[in-house]
Amino acid sequence: MEIDHLGIAVERLDAALAAFEPVVGGKAPPPEVVESQGVRVAFLAVGGTHLEFLEPVRPDSAVARFLAKRGEGLHHLAFHVPSVADALAGAAARGARLIDVQPRPGARGRRVGFVHPSALNGVLVEFVEGP
Ligand code: CO
Repeated sequence: MEIDHLGIAVERLDAALAAFEPVVGGKAPPPEVVESQGVRVAFLAVGGTHLEFLEPVRPDSAVARFLAKRGEGLHHLAFHVPSVADALAGAAARGARLIDVQPRPGARGRRVGFVHPSALNGVLVEFVEGP
């Protein structure tokens, strides 16, 4: 299992990219909206992994609630797995509380699934498969 990306919740995507791009020395491709999660996201490559910046597009999205409660910052950790369905089932079998019982469509055309932070010391974990 490898780290696919680190998710960072931000109030304004453009401002976050303007801040981070010079620091990591790269340029993020154009953002995309992930309707199922109510966010607009952009991925910035850093070495062998990525930073995913998430800006809410709806006030009722999970990221909007996160920002209201905890402010900007690290939001989730994403592991690349061969099968999101298998990874979720394995976590559930070990007693983890899941946010997603089944994989759902995520950013970049990938299938993703989330494990509840209560299962993992307060860290929201995403499984992602593909491309
Ligand atoms: Co993510």
